[in-house]
Amino acid sequence: MLAVQDLGVAFGDIEPLSSVSFALERGEILGIVGESGSGKSLTAMSVMGLLPLQGGRITRGSVNFDGQELTRLPEKEYRKLRGGRIGLITQNPMTSLDPLQKIGIQIDSVIELHLGLNRTQARARTVDILGSLRIPEPSLICDRYPHQMSGGMKQRIVIAMALAADPDLLIADEPTTALDVTVQAQIIKLLKDLVKERDLALILITHDMSVVAQTCDKVVVMYAGRAIEQGDVQAIFHRPQHPYTQALIQCIPHGLAKGQKLTGIKGVVPTVKNYPQGCAFHPRCERAQAICSQQQPAFISVENSFEGLRTATAGSTMKSTVACHFPGEQA
Ligand SMILES: Nc1ncnc2c1ncn2[C@@H]1O[C@H](COP(=O)(O)OP(=O)(O)O)[C@@H](O)[C@H]1O
Ligand SMILES: [Mg+2]
Repeated sequence: MLAVQDLGVAFGDIEPLSSVSFALERGEILGIVGESGSGKSLTAMSVMGLLPLQGGRITRGSVNFDGQELTRLPEKEYRKLRGGRIGLITQNPMTSLDPLQKIGIQIDSVIELHLGLNRTQARARTVDILGSLRIPEPSLICDRYPHQMSGGMKQRIVIAMALAADPDLLIADEPTTALDVTVQAQIIKLLKDLVKERDLALILITHDMSVVAQTCDKVVVMYAGRAIEQGDVQAIFHRPQHPYTQALIQCIPHGLAKGQKLTGIKGVVPTVKNYPQGCAFHPRCERAQAICSQQQPAFISVENSFEGLRTATAGSTMKSTVACHFPGEQA
């Protein structure tokens, strides 16, 4: 459904995103995880064709959506895809909702635009979708304004809008960050159910490794604009090769509050203007040798044997990719 290959993004002469590759199929959930500023949202924006709006551009690589190359797609075509075959759910529902318009009309208009239905047909579909998202009394909700709803309910409305035109791919960029913990869990469960019911492909962007563990089939770990490790969730959680991934996993039991630094990793997340030479993680890495500050590590494929793991089928192997000069499990 989606294949991103060696993607790079620049704003003027700064390059906050380089070497991001991943692929996902229908029915799969791919998590993109990393600390704030690691390039998660830029990856989403690149797929959505929204970089030019912000003054950014794709410098290299490819974004292939269902056989179609998107990096060269004219804006006119992109407008059909966005909200059509690709739905976006953002962290703040109010970036997607118009405060001055009733909920129903906002969803109706997405349906009218992308599916070419008339107003009556569109409203029937709107009520249907709201109902399928377990929103009580959908016809009444249609006449409400966004400010009359709770945060969790607003985020459900945004999900309804993203689903309105029957998309194949959903991108959810930290969809639960602004919500309290119980509502977060409900929204994540809802997304998971939708992927199954509608056979969607979902990219779930989060800074929460435990959400990835519970929800995703595949995961991409981002650091300083690179996908430093990725693979099947089983492989990444049971046999993480990159010291940064290992640190992220170690943080799970304690949990990371919003904006909190990773405990147990010394140093700070580098900003784009001072990405370290070589491997960007080397100043914080206990494994670092001279080569790590000189040369950017290439991507290495790892085959994991899962013998002895009760969560995997006996003797199965799972693949992952890591960019590290000294990959391997912790001593
Ligand atoms: N509009 C922009 N102009 C210039 N630089 C930007 C812009 N958006 C993002 N960046 C740079 O790209 C980095 C990664 O951003 P982003 O993808 O939003 O991170 P994340 O979503 O992982 O927190 C930011 O730290 C910032 O330096
Ligand atoms: Mg972001």
